[in-house]
Order: sequence, then C-alpha cells, then structure tokens
Amino acid sequence: MTPRRDSPDADGAAAGTSHADRLADWFRRFAEVECPDLPLYRALCLIVAEHPGLLSVVLDARPGQWRPNILLAAVHLLVRRDPDARLAAYFPTASSTPRPPDDALASALAEFIERHADEIAELVSTRSTQTNEVNRSCLWFVAWHEEQRAANAQLAVIEVGASAGLNLMVERYSYDFGDGLLRGDRASSVRLGCALSGVRDLPADAPQPVWRLGIDREPIDLADADKRDWLQACIWPEQPERHARYVAAAASALEATPPVIRGDAVGSISAAAAAAPDDAHLVIVTSWVLTYLRRDDRVALRAALDAIGERRDLTWLSAEGAGVVPGLRTVDAWRNDTLVHRVRWRGGHVDEQLVARCHPHLRWLEWLDGSPPA
Ligand SMILES: C[S@@+](CC[C@H](N)C(=O)[O-])C[C@H]1O[C@@H](n2cnc3c(N)ncnc32)[C@H](O)[C@@H]1O
Repeated sequence: MTPRRDSPDADGAAAGTSHADRLADWFRRFAEVECPDLPLYRALCLIVAEHPGLLSVVLDARPGQWRPNILLAAVHLLVRRDPDARLAAYFPTASSTPRPPDDALASALAEFIERHADEIAELVSTRSTQTNEVNRSCLWFVAWHEEQRAANAQLAVIEVGASAGLNLMVERYSYDFGDGLLRGDRASSVRLGCALSGVRDLPADAPQPVWRLGIDREPIDLADADKRDWLQACIWPEQPERHARYVAAAASALEATPPVIRGDAVGSISAAAAAAPDDAHLVIVTSWVLTYLRRDDRVALRAALDAIGERRDLTWLSAEGAGVVPGLRTVDAWRNDTLVHRVRWRGGHVDEQLVARCHPHLRWLEWLDGSPPA
C-alpha cells in the first residue's frame, strides 16, 4: 500500500497516520454515522475496516475517490449482476428474501471480492461515486422559489457537478413536504418527499428556470445502460425508496434530457455564466460536489464566483457536509448534517448566510431564521 502524496484525500492528514489507517477510520465512521440503520452496509464497512487486503483495493481509486462508497458501489453493481453469489443473498436489491448480516458475511464478501477481483479493481480505479440524489430537488424547490421572490425575476440556473442532471428538472416531479398537500407536477411518477420546517407560503408549483445548464467532469448519459446501472449501484441497497425515485427519475430524464455539458467546476464556470441570459437572475448551485474538490480548488471556485458576482447579480447555493465550504461556520451539533449556504452578490455587495440544514438525501429540511449558529 503505497501512500499517494498527490491525493486530495491527504489534505490535512495527521502526521504519522498512514492512508490505510485513515481509510479504515473512514469505513468505521461511515458505518456509525451514515449507516446506523442499514445493517448490511454497516456490517460490510466494519468488515472492510479490519481487512488490509480490502482496504488496499480502495487505495487504487482515483484522487478524491478514496472513500467507502466507491468500493460499496463496485460490489453492489457486481452483486446485482451475479445474483447466485453467496454475498448476493444479503442484498435486498439482489434477493427478494435478503438474509440479515451474520457470521458468514465476512467470508461471503472475501470470496466475492476474490472471484471478481479484476472487475472490482477496474471499477474502483476508473469510476467515481456520482450519486445523483433526485430528492435534493426538494431543497431546490424551496430555495429557488426564495431566490425568485428575492430577485423578483425569472431564474437562470447552473448546477456545477450535476451528474446526470436529475436535479435540474425540478418541475417534472411531485413533492410531499409533509403538510398534506402535493406540490409540483402532481401526476408525476417521480414522487419526492421531505419533512420541511421553517418555511411558510410555499407555492404549489415548482420553480421553472427560464434557462438551465449542468456542468460535470463526467456527465452521465442515462441512455447508456452501463452508466445508468452504475448510478443505481451508488445508491445503498437497503434504501428501496431511493431506488424507486432514481428509477422513475431516470426514466423521466430519458423523455426530457437534462442539459449537462462536460467541464470542470473551476475552469468552466465563467464561460457558463457568460452564456446565461442577462435578463434572468443567475443562480449557481452545488450539492455534494465541493467535497470532491481539493481545498485549493474550492477556494479557486469561490474566487471565480466572486469575479462573476462583480459583473452581474448572482446567487450561489451550496449543500455540503460541515467543514467543506471554506469559511462557513457551524456548530458541533450539526457536524453530521448537510449545510445549505447562500451567497448573494448584489451590485458589488456580498451577503453570506447559512440558510438551512438538512438530511443529506433531504429526508428533512430545516430552513433557518437567518441567525448564525451560536
Ligand atoms: C456526488 S455527485 C452529486 C451530484 C448532484 N450534485 C447531486 O446532488 O445529486 C458529485 C458530482 O460532482 C462531479 N464533480 C466532481 N468534481 C468535479 C469538478 N471538478 N468539476 C465538475 N464536476 C465535478 C462528479 O463527476 C459527480 O457527478
């Protein structure tokens, strides 16, 4: 296991801690924080954390991808293609009567990884976790309405790190915000849901930008079955509601393809902003993207946004884990939440606020009253 000094995951590495040790810790933390109610993924993460051979598979991933999800997604994809494997019996997405994790799981995983060693190595070293969580459209439903109201103008939206672009198509989905009303396209087969608090007078219809564009380092073409399967494999197997949403949204995207171009967050944002219509208010959004950028690239992206904001009014909305957006303060109690940060540039004046916190997949969303965390 050779340490890779060029990896962005090495940012802030504690002196004397090996990459394998840090990764093992990450698997343990992932088990406790992300998967407490997902017995299979929790058990798999804890097994991998104690297994240097399995950890070394992940160390061959590309920069930015040394994380539990890349191995879990590779195994999940192959399990669904090999339903007779012993390991598949534990996966709700491969077996109709999944077996609960037990003492035989570790050997089933080791056997599976050995049997599919070449395919797993290829997937882990060439793919990235591009999970396109369509339920995040619940956040954009609320936040874009607010921007539209505040700017008193139609919106032009750019999503940086759009993956397949599912969250650019907010008006194609139906929304249940827990108040007994169905909003958006109530006939849609894509049914999103989020327990919302802190917002009053939410309109019935979804915001509909007059112009929109997605940018991604590797745009996902959902017409390509292999890419479609990979995105689904990135969704955790014990979350049937997320799979159902994704399958319905992917089918919807085949009817109306989201406009996503290939580009880099820092390198492409200025040209994309220049293409947006002048008479619309420009909103740039990032959700679960900055975490994949090196810290200096996050700062460079902010500088590029500042430069755009000097030329025209602009809003940037980001949804990321705590500690990811440079300079954004939070409180310890929110360290496992997704934090929604808003920066508005208006006539040369800049206003920054933590406007909401939410579940990473938008099970809940709490709009804040504007006061910073104590
Ligand atoms: C975890 S996915 C999130 C997708 C989407 N924003 C969502 O919330 O569902 C992160 C996406 O960011 C893209 N990405 C990562 N680094 C990027 C960069 N430097 N420039 C453009 N896209 C990038 C990845 O390719 C991936 O599709």
